[in-house]
Amino acid sequence: MKIGVAKNKKKIFVHALKSNTEIHPLWLRERVTNVDYLDENNGQRLYEPSEIKKDLRIKKALIKKKFLNVQFNDGVKTEFVIKELLNEIFKKNKKQDITFWNGKLFKKPIFKFKKKLFEFKDGYKVFKNFYKYGFVIIKNAPIKKNYLIKFANIIGILRKTNFGTLFNVKSVRRASDLAYTSHALSAHTDNPYRRPIPGIQLLHCIKNDSVGGHSTLSDGFSIANHLRKRYPKYFQLLSSIKIRFTYQDSKTILENWGETIELNSDNTIKRVRLSPRLDYVPVLKKDKLNQFYKARSLFIKLCNSKNFMIEFKLKPGDIMIMDNYRTLHGRTSYNMSVGERHLQGCYVDHDSVESNMKNLKRKFNI
Ligand code: OGA
Ligand code: ZN
Repeated sequence: MKIGVAKNKKKIFVHALKSNTEIHPLWLRERVTNVDYLDENNGQRLYEPSEIKKDLRIKKALIKKKFLNVQFNDGVKTEFVIKELLNEIFKKNKKQDITFWNGKLFKKPIFKFKKKLFEFKDGYKVFKNFYKYGFVIIKNAPIKKNYLIKFANIIGILRKTNFGTLFNVKSVRRASDLAYTSHALSAHTDNPYRRPIPGIQLLHCIKNDSVGGHSTLSDGFSIANHLRKRYPKYFQLLSSIKIRFTYQDSKTILENWGETIELNSDNTIKRVRLSPRLDYVPVLKKDKLNQFYKARSLFIKLCNSKNFMIEFKLKPGDIMIMDNYRTLHGRTSYNMSVGERHLQGCYVDHDSVESNMKNLKRKFNI
């Protein structure tokens, strides 16, 4: 891949393995970063690009080492960094480093809490591992009630819901969610009935000395890919039938639809949704529903199986951060006659966390 200039210096080309594509002058002109054209504080254009003449041409182009000098025929002159142009054209820096895991994941991504963690390189490592595995655990964070709000606002932007900015996961009478009882919770993703679905869930352990109450996690992407390989018909059903998810209490009525396994346009997995206590499949032909119920049962079974699920007990001071679009979480039941179990939880959005990760990458030139 490289950039080349025509002999008459009036055309610019991208040379890839088998193709030679001319870069449109307007495409380049919109990428001019000179201070007259771009606000240096926010990178936004100071002009209306649709008003640039459509017959804009290149008067003269020249490659000088790592730079491409261009004079446009409307008088604008600029210098592009060739590598940056190639990165954009070939979407080079967009790949996330992802590791699929299963019940044999012995080395969990665990990090030690320290003050200002997310101002250092180690903070970037935490984010990187979060996206690699779909979860991370931070140990030894302060065991203070409501501390999670502060933490969440450091790693991203808090997303308030009808359960509050922060919700207390402990057993109460007349619970507004099964999470606030001592029942076991099978593998699930949170709040698929919201629009948009909260991207990231945080759970902070304040107390956990009852008997039971172990946490469980499974990698929804890994299980979906297993289905794709071994049970393609089931995979096809779960990735095409849209389910209705709903939540209602005396004050709230929420509803959203989506596939159990949602795919990207290139057929890679975009996200999983699973919440068998509040999902409603539409009426379909009996045969199709027969197959769907089998497919869903198998998916649920795998999500809760030893082959795919890890189980561990959170300790006071642990903060678990989970990708709610990928990782399924749950817990075993606990016995309230001994000790106490109290977690606090909240949600943050993916874009805010990704932004902080990229910021650290830029700051430390990683
Ligand atoms: C939840 C939840 C798990 C736990 O609150 O959404 O799944 O460990 N809690 O109590
Ligand atoms: Zn949950």
